[in-house]
Amino acid sequence: DWSMGAFVEEAVARIREQVGDQGTVICGLSGGVDSSVAAALVERAIGDRLHCIFVDNGLLRKNEREQVEAMFAGRLHNPLVVADAGALFLDRLAGVTDPELKRKAIGATFIEVFDEKAHALGGADYLVQGTLYPDVIESVSARGPSATIKTHHNVGGLPEKMKMGVVEPLRELFKDEVRRLGLHLGLPETMIWRHPFPGPGLGVRVLGEVTEPRCAVLREADAIIIEEISRAGLYRDLWQVFGVLLPVRSVGVMGDARTYENALAVRAVESVDAMTADWAHLPYEVLGRISNRIINEVRGINRVCYDISSKPPATIEWE
Ligand code: XMP
Repeated sequence: DWSMGAFVEEAVARIREQVGDQGTVICGLSGGVDSSVAAALVERAIGDRLHCIFVDNGLLRKNEREQVEAMFAGRLHNPLVVADAGALFLDRLAGVTDPELKRKAIGATFIEVFDEKAHALGGADYLVQGTLYPDVIESVSARGPSATIKTHHNVGGLPEKMKMGVVEPLRELFKDEVRRLGLHLGLPETMIWRHPFPGPGLGVRVLGEVTEPRCAVLREADAIIIEEISRAGLYRDLWQVFGVLLPVRSVGVMGDARTYENALAVRAVESVDAMTADWAHLPYEVLGRISNRIINEVRGINRVCYDISSKPPATIEWE
C-alpha cells in the first residue's frame, strides 16, 4: 500500500521532530483501534521512549482486559502498565444518574488514575492521543464548544492538567484510514476490526445508576450479542453492535411464576465515521437468536428490544 507507506514515513518523521531526541511519551491504551494504531506509530518513531498505560475502569466488556493484555504482550518495548481501578470508578459513580455527570465523573477519575501511573513512570514530556478527524470536529466544532453534544473523555482535559505536549498522529484521518494504517503497521486483524467502544464504556450503556451487578448483567448480554453477530458473519458489516441496559423493569412469566426484571435494548448501526448512522436491518433470525439466548442465559433480563433509530436525530450511544 504505497499511500500508507508514504503516510507512515511522514508521520514518523513528524513525531520524531515534535518529540526530539530525548523526549519521552506516554500513551493511554484502550485496546481499541485508534489508540492501538497511534501507539504503534509512535513506537515505530521513538521505540523505548514510549510507555503505554491501560486503565481498567471496571466498565469494560467481557474479557476485555485479558484480551488487551494478551494483544500487547511482547509487542511493545516497555511492558504495558495496567491500572486496576474498577472499584474506584464505581465508587465515584455511586448515585450518579445524569449522563453528562457520569461522563464527567468517569473522565475525572480516568485523569486521576492515569496521572498517578504516569507519575510512577517518572512522568513524560508528551502524551499520545488517538484523536481522529471526526472527534476533532464533533467535540469542538466550528460552532464552538457550546455546541458540544457529549463530553468525549478522550479529547481535551488531560494535557492541560498534566502539562504535557500532545502527540496526535491520527488527527487528519477517518476510521477506515486508521484501519488500513493499522494493517500496514502489522497489527492483528482482530484488533483492527474491533468495533469502537466509548471511553466511558459500560458506564454510558448502563442507563441510570452504574453498579457492578448491573454492569455484570450487561456484560453477559453484550457478549451474547457480539457472539451471535459474529457467528452470522455480520460483525464487519456493522459500525457497532452492543447492548444497552435500560432503567426500567417489565413483567414476564417463567414457568408458572411471574418475573419482574430488566429490559435490554440491542443497538446495531451502520456508519462510515459515526457522524451519521443508520440502524442496521438485521435478519429477524439473528435478532431472534440474540433475544432467546439473552432471556434464557442472562439472569436479570426478561425482555429484549431492538433500537430502530438513526443518527441524527438519535445518537449511537444512548447517553
Ligand atoms: P454518539 O453516541 O455521539 O457516538 O453518536 C459517536 C461515536 O463515538 C463513540 N463515543 C465515544 N468514544 N469517548 C470515545 O472514545 C467517548 O466519550 C465517546 N462517546 C461516544 C460512540 O461509541 C460512537 O462510535
